[in-house]
Amino acid sequence: MKTVRVLFVCLGNICRSPLAEGVLRELASRKGLSPVLTVDSAGTGAWHVGDPPDRRSIEAARRHGIDISQLRGRRVAAADFSDFDLILGMDENNVGTLKRLAPEGTAAKVHLFLDYASGDGQDVPDPYYEGPEAFEALYQMLEAGCSSLLERLGERAS
Ligand code: 4NP
Repeated sequence: MKTVRVLFVCLGNICRSPLAEGVLRELASRKGLSPVLTVDSAGTGAWHVGDPPDRRSIEAARRHGIDISQLRGRRVAAADFSDFDLILGMDENNVGTLKRLAPEGTAAKVHLFLDYASGDGQDVPDPYYEGPEAFEALYQMLEAGCSSLLERLGERAS
């Protein structure tokens, strides 16, 4: 499998995309695919630059044996559109922002995460204003999506 560089993007880079980053990294590691996969995450907004992930995302990851506490928020940058092969927005709002930011010739790298992973056009909903149970549902959605994404990347490479 050729190396694939994946960037997950949400609004704040503290709830959804860092959890997706941790989940994909873990699933890839379990399948021995770490050497051929680069994963990162970023936000379209700048409110949480330098912050650790939301405590509820850290806890959801920890319940499933994944540590994302060392990750720090950052904003999407122009260089990301050349540094990554796939730029996966968590919801249609993120995808719209990314397409507007994309330098010429790079917009084709931008996709809605679950649509690219499994052909399912659903958004990963923003859990920021929800209760803790929304974060377990978020984890489950991301795990299923990341598992499909790895299968798709494997098919693409073979
Ligand atoms: P995220 O959630 O996009 O999944 O990281 C949010 C986090 C923070 C804010 C919005 C969404 N905020 O408005 O600060």
